[in-house]
Amino acid sequence: MKIDGVPYRSVWVDREDGWSVRIFDQTKLPWAIDILRLADEDQAAHAIRSMQTRGAPLIGAVAAYGVALAMRRDASTAHLDSVVDMLGKTRPTAINLRWALDRMRAALHNMAPADRVAAAYAEAAAICDDDVETCRKIGEHGLPLLQEIAARKAPGERVNVLTHCNAGWLATVDYGTALSPIFQAHDAGLKVHVWVDETRPRNQGAALTAWELGKHGVPHTVVADNAGGHLMQHGEVDIVIVGTDRVTRQGDVANKIGTYLKALAARDNGVPFWVALPHSTLDMRVRDGVAEIPIEERAEAEVTELTGRTADGRIETVRVVAEGSPAANPAFDVTPARLVTGLITERGRTEASEAGLAALYPDKA
Ligand code: MRU
Repeated sequence: MKIDGVPYRSVWVDREDGWSVRIFDQTKLPWAIDILRLADEDQAAHAIRSMQTRGAPLIGAVAAYGVALAMRRDASTAHLDSVVDMLGKTRPTAINLRWALDRMRAALHNMAPADRVAAAYAEAAAICDDDVETCRKIGEHGLPLLQEIAARKAPGERVNVLTHCNAGWLATVDYGTALSPIFQAHDAGLKVHVWVDETRPRNQGAALTAWELGKHGVPHTVVADNAGGHLMQHGEVDIVIVGTDRVTRQGDVANKIGTYLKALAARDNGVPFWVALPHSTLDMRVRDGVAEIPIEERAEAEVTELTGRTADGRIETVRVVAEGSPAANPAFDVTPARLVTGLITERGRTEASEAGLAALYPDKA
């Protein structure tokens, strides 16, 4: 992904600066491009918890580098185990975090402590490279869906995609999952337009997805979260594509709160509802997503307050809920597999079912 012509990944290592780790402070976007320096595992954990860095694949990658930073301080087995444990508790829903930390522990555990620093950086870099290639392939496998819709349209008519939250390059190491086919379609000359759900309470759609699409030149329109059903009833949505934080063995999909309602509206209106995921998002150990996936509960303030830029350029947070009214903030929901038209993965597309996933991932089944 490029920002104003400069290529970036969402996480990288600064070797000249003591092998520190760099990320964008996503709580500042789209108002400021602030690059943060992570010097130890506590700073990595804070960045994940506070959502300075976020998105299922990206928190896995940052956590992996958190382990590498920790090994610089103390490469003992006890410290490795405790840092993996500590980072694993930063956010509960996205399984990519656990996947990346398990991979780090497996790579480092049976190794002499003296070798662990170099091996940890190498493994974290491999996780990042894997994510980049995976997301690029998700784009390739999702692109035909958009091309098929375009082929059915009158010449010059746009393909309307609706997406929820941010599943773009800011949520991964590069390219994104749900946005990857959209970027590829745009680059291939398809007339694609994206309805961007604002995604309350944290507004990842309005703040991040709209910004990313704008930087890539993809036509888009931000809509209030509740507009999706209306747009579908009026034929304004050809396809929904979302990302996910965890997909179960039977194809249930956890994603940002509000995704389930979009899937219900899509089903009622005959709009295809696709979910894009990398292999690291699959959790074959759980079957029933509603019963088994832990849903993160976040702070009330994310609901009761809003942050934005004033006309004179100041970033301000204001309260939007009556004083004294409590708020609840479940951050994710689960869309049952029966509402999912299909899954777009780096290995191809499949139905959201145990059979579909087993056929595509026999090694995981
Ligand atoms: O709470 P967030 O911003 O980390 O939630 C992100 C999402 O829900 C994304 O849709 C999901 O992680 C897919 S990212 C490719």
